[in-house]
Amino acid sequence: FISSQSFQEEDLRGKTAVVVDVLRASSTMITALYNGAKGVIPVADMGDASKISQNLDSSHYLLSGEKDGVKIEGYDLGNSPLDYSREKVEKKTIILNTTNGTKAIKRAGLAEEIVIGSFLNLEALLDHLQAVETDIGLVCAGWKGRLALEDLLCAGNIIYELTGGNLPENVQDGAKVAFGLFEKFGDDIEQAVKTSNYAVRLKDIVSEEDISYCCQLNRMHVLPVMKEGIISDFYGK
Ligand code: MLT
Repeated sequence: FISSQSFQEEDLRGKTAVVVDVLRASSTMITALYNGAKGVIPVADMGDASKISQNLDSSHYLLSGEKDGVKIEGYDLGNSPLDYSREKVEKKTIILNTTNGTKAIKRAGLAEEIVIGSFLNLEALLDHLQAVETDIGLVCAGWKGRLALEDLLCAGNIIYELTGGNLPENVQDGAKVAFGLFEKFGDDIEQAVKTSNYAVRLKDIVSEEDISYCCQLNRMHVLPVMKEGIISDFYGK
């Protein structure tokens, strides 16, 4: 178990990495794929986004993302999952650039497999994790290197379900903390997330509707998985 961004990239070698950015990059990617986006290309910065977009036909992609929660000027979409409707994203490739989420995906690069998790796709994620034979590393995106309650709470929910609510003693401290957090706040995830640093920090930028949306459990049976730089749905046709 690996929390926040304080890991060595080598730690994930040979593991299945689950990147968790509940608010909002994970939730946005899950929603985009659910609504028929062809794929999501996560990029670490605006430079990468424009390099990639230069090689694509502009009618086939959407340039998307935020800086500090705010839509980047000139981009087609920001990072509100509610904007990723079927009308907007179906059959499009999304080039996504976010403050923490897409950077965390980039840093998980040495993992055997990278999947994206959030509350929205918890069941789809667990179905997959229960079947994998590798160790699992949970990468909580956090905020600029700091821990974020919503990501740790979601990691705790994943650990709780994977262990049937009985945490073995020999797990890492991060897993114990996440598990304990879920035991304390798991009964009302939305209420806990609404008190998070993120919700307070971005209260004038990110709507309460966005936060409530991202706290819903099992809304979508979608599992974003990264292959050769593109994220698509593991369960998709
Ligand atoms: C991130 O990557 O830090 C988040 O997705 C920020 C946001 O919610 O816009």
